[in-house]
Amino acid sequence: MSRRRLFVTTALPYANGAFHIGHIMEYVQADIWVRFQRMCGHEVHFVGADDAHGAPNMLKAEAEGVTPEQLVARIAAERPAHLRGFHLGFDNWHSTHSPENTELSQDIFRRLVAAGLIDRRAIEQLYDPVKGMFLADRYVRGECPNCGAPDQYGDACENCSSVYAATALKNPRSTLSGATPVLRSSDHFFFRLSDPRCVGFLKQWLQTPGRLQPQVVNKAREWLEGAGDKALGDWDISRDPPYFGIRVPDIAEEKYLYVWLDAPIGYLASLKNYCAKKGLDFAATLNASEQIHFIGKDIIYFHTLFWPAMLKFAGAPYKVPDRVYVHGFIGVSGEKMSKSRGTGISPQRYLDIGMNPDWLRYYIAAKLNAAVEDIDFNPDDFLARVNSDLVGKYVNIASRAAGFVSKQFGGRLYDFGDESPPSWGLVVAQDDSIAEGYESREFGRVVREVMALADRVNQRFDEAKPWDLAKDPSRRDDLHRACSDALLAFFALSVYLAPILPATARRVARELFGLERELTFDDRRLRPARIAPFKHLLTRVEEKQLDALFELLPAAAEATRSPQTHAEHQQHAAREQAVSDVITIEDFAKLDLRIARIVAAEAVEGADKLVKLTLDLGGETRTVFAGIKAAYAPEALTGRLTVMVANLAPRKMRFGVSEGMILAASGDGPGIHLIAPDEGAQPGMRVK
Ligand code: 2FM
Ligand code: ZN
Repeated sequence: MSRRRLFVTTALPYANGAFHIGHIMEYVQADIWVRFQRMCGHEVHFVGADDAHGAPNMLKAEAEGVTPEQLVARIAAERPAHLRGFHLGFDNWHSTHSPENTELSQDIFRRLVAAGLIDRRAIEQLYDPVKGMFLADRYVRGECPNCGAPDQYGDACENCSSVYAATALKNPRSTLSGATPVLRSSDHFFFRLSDPRCVGFLKQWLQTPGRLQPQVVNKAREWLEGAGDKALGDWDISRDPPYFGIRVPDIAEEKYLYVWLDAPIGYLASLKNYCAKKGLDFAATLNASEQIHFIGKDIIYFHTLFWPAMLKFAGAPYKVPDRVYVHGFIGVSGEKMSKSRGTGISPQRYLDIGMNPDWLRYYIAAKLNAAVEDIDFNPDDFLARVNSDLVGKYVNIASRAAGFVSKQFGGRLYDFGDESPPSWGLVVAQDDSIAEGYESREFGRVVREVMALADRVNQRFDEAKPWDLAKDPSRRDDLHRACSDALLAFFALSVYLAPILPATARRVARELFGLERELTFDDRRLRPARIAPFKHLLTRVEEKQLDALFELLPAAAEATRSPQTHAEHQQHAAREQAVSDVITIEDFAKLDLRIARIVAAEAVEGADKLVKLTLDLGGETRTVFAGIKAAYAPEALTGRLTVMVANLAPRKMRFGVSEGMILAASGDGPGIHLIAPDEGAQPGMRVK
């Protein structure tokens, strides 16, 4: 096959927060695909960047009392460790707030003007006179113009589902200042997506075979072919100050390009920045490469309508995306992920508590296919797949066979000559299917096939009864053959799994088989001649690690820290006991503390420390998981009054959703002491 040149991107994360599990899932998906392409000898430029601009980033920085540049820089500083932590092999990570992106975005804007696709029109919008800015829909709330439901957002009603313009809300107010917004007119620039040239081009672009998944084509066609009030509108691509963005070029007034215009151009900016570092010609590289974007299903609109149209009519050296690969969302234990809050799993915490990144990569791969389907992270399923399949089947082959070869044959593998070792033969015969699975992003199928092969290799090994053979000196050759065959098969399986488990496969190649270079897909047929003594390759996931991941149990986190000296411990304890930073009365008022009656309390199966409490708040009932089992038998809790934080965001834990928190005192030593109110307090009363 001729050498492909690929320019691959993942969606650019907003630069106002840490990565959540949804980001990591997408990056793992793209990274597996990229690693497979590289293993096949193709050239890949794999880039990402932070999506720095826009009103939310600007307002978040303001709330923190820093400049948007400072906010973005702080988040950017965290990225490399997280990317490395999950073995994500991006060639470059850049920012949309960069000279390259300014230059490219303004260039594309000018070219679209020259193509006659940009209009300037006055529009009326809600303006916050106190804050001094125009309000995007999400910053306006009011009564639904259709059903009158109070406190609805500026674009749609959560009560009756009707969709409307923010200007239609009754009694609107700004969520930024509480002020009543006023209507104000301002000139905006529009990209004329409804121009017949755009529509004609997009129809043809969408239909190109292999470019998009069928579900994605259907979705995009619905938008493209919509009629009446669903008809494709022109796209408002400018914003008035204050805004954190790139200036609209060639006009005297201060206006900015809308963040969604400059964000995808950030893909090109990152490539350009990378080319400069590598001494490559940007235009030539772009031109010679297939352009492939991995994205989530929530941003199909931008990537299948605006983005290709912008690129098409900007002209060379820009080129339209060759393929857009769309994935679904990842939920945790059946709960949907929120784009801003993520889910109960923090990738940062996953790494901090020392969980193996290859486990998560494996689990995600096992769940992914090429369709736009949501996947679920389920802790029990995670534990089972990693421990029973990955460790119990795959690693098991090497851990059983290697000892014999090291101890009895000095590490030398049997020389099969022209003969095809039977287990190894089984494995390599599947190569086309594995390769096809990777190419088409059917990673779940790849994992299933690899595990089925591992099963067969283990089975053949069992059937050879190596333990019996080892006792019979006349059968030494058979023992040598059976173990060597299993190890060669293991090596080939490691090549198959390398895109998914880069760190583990590298250790297998280097430490067990003495191969120093990077693995290629051709290495599946390599038959190494020797092994080094087997070292532990991959540990099993422990329940307590999952507890620590979900429940922030201090004890479990503590266990993974390095041991402290006595002096360090004293210091640590002192730091923890020092009175916290001063807060204002307004900060304190944010806490809604309530008297709660414990109406039921039960132990939680599988959790050492937790008690599941049902709390009565004076009419309302809440479920709270509390880490107090060491101090209280569940039955001793029923009927007691305590104090709870009633407005804590619900938190997904391994055993269910916890809807608040109860207050208890604890000190340095053991002992947890539940807070109880004085006589007369009633459930639901506020504690101030
Ligand atoms: O939805 C998001 O998280 C956006 N920050 C994605 C931008 S993708 C690309 F256009 F930059
Ligand atoms: Zn309504």
